[in-house]
Parts: sequence; structure tokens; C-alpha cells
Amino acid sequence: MVIKIWMAQTVAAPKVEAISSASNQMTKLTENLFLLARADQGLNLQLEPVNLNVLLTDLMQLYKPQAEAKQLTWQLKLEPELFLSGDRLLLTQLFTNLIQNALQYTATGDSINVKGQKINSQIHIEIADTGIGIASEHLDKIFERFWRADKSRSYQSSRSGLGLAIVKEIIRLHHGKVSVDSQLGKGSNFTLIFPR
Ligand SMILES: Nc1ncnc2c1ncn2[C@@H]1O[C@H](COP(=O)(O)OP(=O)(O)OP(=O)(O)O)[C@@H](O)[C@H]1O
Ligand SMILES: [Mg+2]
Repeated sequence: MVIKIWMAQTVAAPKVEAISSASNQMTKLTENLFLLARADQGLNLQLEPVNLNVLLTDLMQLYKPQAEAKQLTWQLKLEPELFLSGDRLLLTQLFTNLIQNALQYTATGDSINVKGQKINSQIHIEIADTGIGIASEHLDKIFERFWRADKSRSYQSSRSGLGLAIVKEIIRLHHGKVSVDSQLGKGSNFTLIFPR
């Protein structure tokens, strides 16, 4: 009897894990699509003073264990007092998407550097990695919804190709700009410019 239950549990565990993972994927996809639909309809921002020093320091701390697991050089250099009037939740989503990409598209021993500074009346944030990089012919596609460089495994991956489309919408809603500089095999550098 005990053995039967134990066997049933061992057989069922991977299935439960697969179901749970599929359900997490569906939830994430639904949330992302919902956010984009709201952005398309002129989403109202919940504006408040946002301290980017705190927001970015917290996020870098949150993802530090993943960076350590990959033995990445993980650096954050911020000028003091990077304040912005913005929507805290959306800005957190934006930086999360870029940091998750940097973590996803780097290999063991690579570096991720996040830099923030005030230049004239703007705030510039750079998220740079020394990862797999993006081919020049793909650079104008990466902000499109559902676009992914690696299409071969996309149906089974937990990635949906919406992360950068969301970054683009959130930065637009904050009247900012995002640009990318990347070289295949060398790494990528995403720069965000916010008006203050
Ligand atoms: N830092 C990066 N280095 C290399 N390639 C990148 C980087 N960021 C994005 N890309 C490329 O751009 C594509 C689109 O990125 P995006 O974040 O929109 O989607 P995703 O990461 O595939 O999925 P999701 O973010 O929805 O989980 C990625 O699939 C990848 O090919
Ligand atoms: Mg992504």
C-alpha cells in the first residue's frame, strides 16, 4: 500500500510540475497581453515620484542569486537622486523585462552592468550585457510583439516574445525613448532616456 502511494507520487510529480509550469506560462502570457491591450487603449498612469536608485538597487538585489548562479559580473553604478515622475509598477515591469533578458541571453562568466546618470534634463539608464548579442538585421524587429530570434524552440519555451514590446509601450507612456546597440556574439546595450 505504502509502495503503491509512493509510486503514484513519483509518477505524478513530473506531470504536476508540467501542469504548474504550463499554467504559470499561460498566466504570464495573459498578464502581458492584458497590459499591452491596456497600453493600446491609452492606459492611465498612476504617477508618483519614483526613486530609480531604490527601484534599481532592489531589482538588482532580487536577481543577484540568479546572476551568482551563472557566475556573472553583476554591477550597478548610479548617480545619486535619480528621481522620476512615473508609474512605479510599470517602471518596475520595464526594468524587470530588461534585466531578465540580460540574464537570459548571457552565459556563465559574462557581465551585466547597469548604469544611471542625469544628463541635462534627462535621466539615462543603460543595461549592458556581454551575452549572445543580436544580429544587425534583427535589431529593428526585437521590439515587435511575439518576435524572438530563436524561433525553433519557441513553442516549448516559457518565453513569448512580448518583453521588449512591453518595454517599448511603457517607455512611450513615460514620454521616453529606448534604443539598442548590439553585436552578435559580443553583447547588447539597451539605453533608456526619460525626461525629468
Ligand atoms: N539582452 C539580449 N541579448 C540578446 N538577445 C536579446 C536580448 N534581449 C532581447 N533579445 C532578443 O530579442 C527577442 C525579443 O525579446 P523579448 O524580451 O521581447 O522576448 P523574449 O525574451 O523572447 O520573451 P519574453 O520576454 O516575453 O519572456 C528575444 O527572443 C531575443 O532573441
Ligand atoms: Mg524577454
